Formats: sequence, structure tokens, C-alpha cells
Amino acid sequence: MLYRYRTFVLTAFAVLVIFFVGACKKEQPSPVGECGKDLVINWDLYSYAPTPHNLVIPPTLPQTMPMPANNPLTKEGIALGRKLFYDPILSADSTQSCASCHNIDYAFTDNGKKFSVGIDGVPGNRNSMALINLGWTNRLFWDGRSEGLETQALEPITNPVEMHNTWEEAVCDLMKVEQYRIDFYKAFGVKEITPTEVTKALAQFERTLISGASKFDLASTPGTGVFFTEQEDLGFQLFYSETGGDCFHCHGDGARFFTDNLFHNNGLDNVPPGGQFADKGLGAVTGRPEDNGLFRTTTLRNIALTAPYMHDGRFATLDEVLDHYSDHIKPSPTLDILMITDFGGIGKQLTPDEKQALIAFLHTLTDTAFVNNPAFKNPFD
Ligand code: HEC
Ligand code: HEC
Repeated sequence: MLYRYRTFVLTAFAVLVIFFVGACKKEQPSPVGECGKDLVINWDLYSYAPTPHNLVIPPTLPQTMPMPANNPLTKEGIALGRKLFYDPILSADSTQSCASCHNIDYAFTDNGKKFSVGIDGVPGNRNSMALINLGWTNRLFWDGRSEGLETQALEPITNPVEMHNTWEEAVCDLMKVEQYRIDFYKAFGVKEITPTEVTKALAQFERTLISGASKFDLASTPGTGVFFTEQEDLGFQLFYSETGGDCFHCHGDGARFFTDNLFHNNGLDNVPPGGQFADKGLGAVTGRPEDNGLFRTTTLRNIALTAPYMHDGRFATLDEVLDHYSDHIKPSPTLDILMITDFGGIGKQLTPDEKQALIAFLHTLTDTAFVNNPAFKNPFD
């Protein structure tokens, strides 16, 4: 009897000790020096000889993409970036990956959400952005605060309302996974992983996310046998005409990105002279009052898949967007000059048929090959 009681007490004690040690382990991240130290990898089995990757760019887009000299595209780098993009290992509690807020089915936006919610259940204050043709852009985010894909990727991992991790922890977790150690070695020739290689791999994968095979692209390429309907054609005319919808000044740059990659105030908010914008946008980054309320023009490619719209996701549908540009341009000190001249400070005063035609045209920018591309999907599925 006594013996049994003693066993019980001892077992209970052991369970408690294990529990507390386990709990403490969670609280205190192990130092980087120890991360993956016990892993024995026979490096002789692997070589660093990455294969260059040539992008296949659809004919309607510019045929070359600017590439940083220190991060050329390689098959190994892209494959690694794709894994990292889909692996929740990068978030503090391993519950969220980049793909959680950038879902391929929605052209890499956040499942119809107005604001993204991070691992702690706290929502941010901006709408998730589509990841399309970003290799041609060097001012990222709604407010342009990041200057390239490599720098951009530093942010979501540590952002407190996103993956809320530390780089130390993220790298430490990767160092414990033998396959990642091998992948990083094959892609970048490093045996010790650092944030630099993580962001380089993510950037390489993101550069491959090219969309240029929509109905619009096919209809603009001779010999494809694809043509616009009458309504789509009317929408196309309106999009590109100053007296019609006049969208092309900001959303068409001749290079077919459907964005000028510049910053404008398109009249979303009524702000009196000397008043405050709810979100200063570019102004918060540059500190210049004339930049307050300016946001990056986003691409309209795959726009039918990326609702809700604008930096704060205020419009649920394209109908609401068209109502805005037609009838509800609001005055503010930094309102774009085009909104005052061509849009008369009020809006384009489009008829219901014209709005529907513009929406039909916007739907021709949906690229089903892009959102179904097997090379962009979750490699762990
Ligand atoms: C919790 C949701 C969330 C997660 C997780 C997340 N993002 Fe984002 N992403 C956003 C939001 C919201 C924005 C817009 C933020 C802003 O402009 O302030 C954004 C913007 C971006 C942009 C800028 C696109 C452009 O056109 O300027 C890129 C690139 C990007 N994210 C890549 C990533 C990568 C890579 C990861 C993983 C390392 C990631 N994101 C993880 C929500 C998320
Ligand atoms: C003066 C430049 C300008 C003009 C002209 C313009 N836009 Fe925009 N557009 C922008 C900017 C800037 C944004 C992002 C604004 C924000 O979120 O604060 C935007 C956002 C959008 C969005 C939402 C994008 C997203 O990812 O959420 C759609 C859709 C859109 N515009 C369609 C149009 C259409 C259709 C027209 C023509 C009727 C048009 N735009 C004319 C500058 C312009």
C-alpha cells in the first residue's frame, strides 16, 4: 500500500516536473548558437551548384525583369522560397504562413477579409495586397515604405499584428530542420542560415508570380482567336478615354501592369484644409504634408478576385468602386489634380450601363492560368 502510494507521488512529481520544464522551454527561446547544433549533416553528399532559372514572360508584358545582382533567380532558390512562403514555421507559434494572408485562390490576397488578422488574433489596419508582377515594382506596401522584395520580406515575420516572431527564433527553427539546411546550402551555399537567405528565397519565389495570360492579354495578341464581347469592348474604350472612365492615367502605363506604381489621393475621404487623414499613407513615411492621404495605385490585374478594395478594404464590390469614381470623389487638400480636372472634383458621372461595361472589362483581367499555376501552389499539399 505504502509502496503504491509512493509510486503515485513520484509519478505525479515527475509529470509536474516535465510539465514545468516544457512550459519554461516555450517561454525561453533557445539561444541561436544551439539551434540545430546537434544536427549532423554529411555535407559531402550535397553540392552548391544552383541552376539558373529563365523566366517565361507572356508577350504582353515587358520581356525583361530587373534583377538584383546579388540575388539571381535559380531553380533551387525559387523552390526554397515557395516552401518558406507556405510554411507556418516562420511565425512565432507556427500557425501562420505568408499564404495565410496571401491565398492563391484570391490572387494572393486574404480570403475576402477587410483587414488581415495576425497570429494573436489582432487585426491590422490595412487590406492584404495581391502579389502580382512585383518584380517590376520597387515601392512596396500601400504606403511605399519598402524598397524591394528582399527588404519587404523582413517585415511580416516580425510584425506584431502578423507573424509576430523574432528573426532569431525563425532562423533557429529553420536550423533545426535537416531538409531546410540542405535546401539553403543548395540554393545559397550556406551552412548557417541567416535572415538574408530567407528573404532572398522568398523574393525569388515572388518574382515568378507573373500574371499576363488573362482574356485581356489573349484578346490583345493576334492569332489567339479570343475577342471581347461588345460590353467588354465598351468598357475597354471607357477605361482608356479621358471623357469616359479615365482610369488609364493611373492604372495604365503602357507597360500593361495596370498601375503606374505611383502614389495618388483618389478622393476617398473628405478632409478639410488643415484636417487629419485617418491614415496618412505615403505622408507617414516621407513626413511631407503634401504626401498625406496618398496611396500606391495597385494593379487591376485579377481585380475581380481580390475584394474588398482600397488600402482599408472599404469597398466590398467593384460596383461600389465604380460608384466612388462616378459620383463620390471627396475633397481634401492633397486630392489628385486629375480628380479635380478630369473628374470635376465629383466623379465621372457614368451611366449604369457604362459602370457595368467597365466592370465587365475589369473581369477580362482575371488570369485563371495564374491562380491555377501548379508552380505557385502549396508544395506541402
Ligand atoms: C497577417 C497577414 C499577413 C501575413 C502573414 C503576411 N502578409 Fe504580406 N501583406 C499583408 C498586408 C495587410 C499587406 C499590406 C500592408 C501595408 O501596406 O501596410 C501586405 C503586403 C505585402 C506585400 C507588398 C505587396 C505590394 O504590392 O506592395 C508583399 C510583397 C507581401 N505582403 C509579402 C508577404 C510575405 C513574403 C509574407 C511571409 C513572410 C507575408 N506577406 C505575410 C498581410 C500579411
Ligand atoms: C488619380 C489616379 C487614379 C485614377 C484616375 C483611377 N485610380 Fe483607381 N486607384 C488609384 C489609387 C491611388 C488606388 C489605391 C487607393 C487607396 O487604396 O487608397 C486605386 C485603387 C483602385 C481600385 C482598388 C484596388 C485594390 O487593390 O483594392 C480599383 C478597383 C480601381 N482603383 C479602379 C479604378 C477605375 C475603374 C478607374 C477609372 C474609373 C480608376 N481606378 C481611376 C488611383 C487612380
